[in-house]
Amino acid sequence: MRKPRIAILGATGVVGREITKITEELGIEYEDIKFLSSARSAGTKIEFKGREYVVEEAVPESFDGINIVMASAGGSTSQKFAPEIVKRGGVIIDNSSAFRMDKDVPLVIAGVNDEDLRKHKGIIANPNCSTSQLMLVLEPLKRFGIKRLIVSTYQAVSGAGLAAINELRDDTKANLEGKHFENKCFKKPISFNVIPQIDVFCDNGYTKEEMKVVNETRKILHLDESVKISCTAVRVPVFNGHSEAVDIEFEKAVTPDEVRRILADSFGVSVIDNPENYEYPTTRDASGVNPVFAGRIRKNLAFENGISLWCVADNLRIGAALNTVRICKKVIEMELF
Ligand SMILES: NC(=O)c1ccc[n+]([C@@H]2O[C@H](COP(=O)([O-])OP(=O)(O)OC[C@H]3O[C@@H](n4cnc5c(N)ncnc54)[C@H](OP(=O)(O)O)[C@@H]3O)[C@@H](O)[C@H]2O)c1
Repeated sequence: MRKPRIAILGATGVVGREITKITEELGIEYEDIKFLSSARSAGTKIEFKGREYVVEEAVPESFDGINIVMASAGGSTSQKFAPEIVKRGGVIIDNSSAFRMDKDVPLVIAGVNDEDLRKHKGIIANPNCSTSQLMLVLEPLKRFGIKRLIVSTYQAVSGAGLAAINELRDDTKANLEGKHFENKCFKKPISFNVIPQIDVFCDNGYTKEEMKVVNETRKILHLDESVKISCTAVRVPVFNGHSEAVDIEFEKAVTPDEVRRILADSFGVSVIDNPENYEYPTTRDASGVNPVFAGRIRKNLAFENGISLWCVADNLRIGAALNTVRICKKVIEMELF
């Protein structure tokens, strides 16, 4: 198997740091690796596999001879560098939303729609964090025919980057000390609060985050317009780990026990579901580990063939970095670079 020359773009950010950690954890084999950021963090030192690397400022020439770029540096940075990377024969696996809905760009959850990777033309997109964990749970249940899907998300602040993590900490402290705090990352105070807005509002009254779940789910699972999907996305004062309440209507009848059995055997999913003993997944179970946890699996009372469930995952891992590195691994194994 050919070994690629790899660059991690946005290496000093929340997601970039996880990508670096997971690249080591998954034992990605490479010829060479480099770490890139903006001018602001250039010169920062990063420890990787027992060696110290100096972070470099990303410029077009940084991508000369690079085969695979794992990017988490924001949409405008990806838009600026993706053409430079592709022009030089490289493949970019991008975490931003810049290219996700382009029809020439595969939107991939490793282990769900790997075959879509074969269609790439240099750019591969990583889905939004709230979509990502949902896909690992829904894909194994597709066999029952998904007819309608309603998702409510409870999203951690880490999904909005380092500044948002700091804002939750500082706002909480100020609140407990009775001091004034000016929120910058969120439209409302995040400490001791629940905010029903993530990203900007669209003309249809949904937020952009909610529409990402709707549109990306359709693209990844190859569902047509006849499948009705709705989402409400909410920011909660949790540092890390997204939770989702999911209601699914199926074409075929399915029991909670069947769903439990299928999910327990599915790639990337772990079932914790024993309500009698108060066993169900919470964000604290999910933070820092790889599985998407599913629980509270029950018959939905509003739909004919309906199932309701709760799923929780580390948004920085499955929602961004873990999937990026898993895609990188697939691209190497499938020799797509
Ligand atoms: N956080 C999540 O859960 C999550 C999930 C899915 C997708 N994403 C996406 O991943 C991206 C990064 O998110 P994050 O939370 O890691 O943000 P972050 O903590 O703010 O990190 C941003 C990174 O991008 C670098 N960067 C910014 N502008 C750059 C430029 N012009 N050239 C080169 N590098 C530049 C920064 O370098 P400096 O240190 O030099 O500023 C830093 O390394 C965003 O597109 C975000 O939407 C995040």
